[in-house]
Amino acid sequence: MEERKRPQWSSSIAFIIASIGSAVGLGNIWRFPYIMGEYGGAVFLFIYLLLIFTICILPLISELFLGKFFQKNIVSVYEAIDKKCSIFGWLCIVTAILIPCFYFVVGGWILNYIYISLTDLQVADYTVYFADFVKSPLLQPFYTILFLILTVGITYRGVNKGIEKANNIMMPAFAVILLILAIYTLNLPNASRGLEFMFNPDFSKVNMKMILIALGQALFTLSIGMGALTTYGSYLKKDAKIVRLSYVLAFFDTLLAVLAGIMIFPAVFSFGLEPGAGPNLVFITMPHIFNQLPFGNLISLMFFVLIFFAAITSGISLLETSVLTFIEKFNMSRGKAVLVLTGIISLITIPTSLSYGILNGTALCGFNLFEFLDFATSNILLPFNTLIICLVVGWVIKPSNMLITKRRWCFKIFNFALKYIIPIVLITLMYFGLEG
Ligand code: PFF
Repeated sequence: MEERKRPQWSSSIAFIIASIGSAVGLGNIWRFPYIMGEYGGAVFLFIYLLLIFTICILPLISELFLGKFFQKNIVSVYEAIDKKCSIFGWLCIVTAILIPCFYFVVGGWILNYIYISLTDLQVADYTVYFADFVKSPLLQPFYTILFLILTVGITYRGVNKGIEKANNIMMPAFAVILLILAIYTLNLPNASRGLEFMFNPDFSKVNMKMILIALGQALFTLSIGMGALTTYGSYLKKDAKIVRLSYVLAFFDTLLAVLAGIMIFPAVFSFGLEPGAGPNLVFITMPHIFNQLPFGNLISLMFFVLIFFAAITSGISLLETSVLTFIEKFNMSRGKAVLVLTGIISLITIPTSLSYGILNGTALCGFNLFEFLDFATSNILLPFNTLIICLVVGWVIKPSNMLITKRRWCFKIFNFALKYIIPIVLITLMYFGLEG
């Protein structure tokens, strides 16, 4: 059988932009600020930064390493390591299919808010508007599917013409809009109270649950634990410097998450509103603020276009992980793989989009379907998949033997952490976090 020619990034910069596109998403702009708001502000930020640069950076390097080294999809990577391990690859694919099922619902919310801002629709009360919108049996699934179609359209065009091109346009635009909005909100009256909330930690608020949530968020935001980085890493040239690339990626992802906080909290405090408003922060609190600002509609449009760029560039990487696996494992064309996966995701994402409407009563461990998928993927599947990646790279692959470096001691520490420290941390946190 003829080997399929694998695509490659046109340069390291293209890879970095696309990986930042994958990492920076709803996790940074929608989830991070509201979780930080709920879990005490600055202290959460502190724990989160600590986890990213001590714990999460290592699986990040490991995932990229697997992709670059094997140049395969995540399932074939595990198979190449040991046939019996392929189950772990498929678990990553299950995660890569389940995350879009709630992620694209939020994507739909964003599209709806772009529409409101564009049409200058006057909404008197966003609490009522949002509640009605998410309950709607037609509009809500319509916008979810629209977001899915846009994501699929880009992924269908392939790595260079689709993913790379979309990221090259959207990510710089994203950074510019974020900066403009952050500067704007910093100039609102009482903005400094928002900064204090973000940067003045109260350590009495630390607890196990919060650390697990911070870890789940850190893994989620860096796109670790489902093979997305292995997929993007597999399009790298063999001589790419993955350790350096990983630090650049972690740095930008964190910077942009903090900037998103700087864009949101000063505005929230300036209007005397509640930072712990939960998932509604972006969809009720912020539009309420925009309504009262001069040029509010324009600001609102910029804000939601910003989130849209972040969401779709991450959505692409979520989809690409399973698309590449279907192409290579089932010998499908890209078009067919995209089509099959769109079908599977639609089957789950449509009911998920009805979680706050006609399916509201359907409880799964006390959650509705949307909340269940969010919780199960971020707090169980991502940490579990990450645990396996660390164990496999630490015990089986032994990166110290494969990475050519002058600093062998660095890799001794790296290996020790992957074999013992990170697995213990991940297991402890999963245990305590799930206990409640
Ligand atoms: N990192 C993305 C975000 O912060 O929104 C979400 C995500 C993308 C998670 C890709 C996992 C993934 F593989």
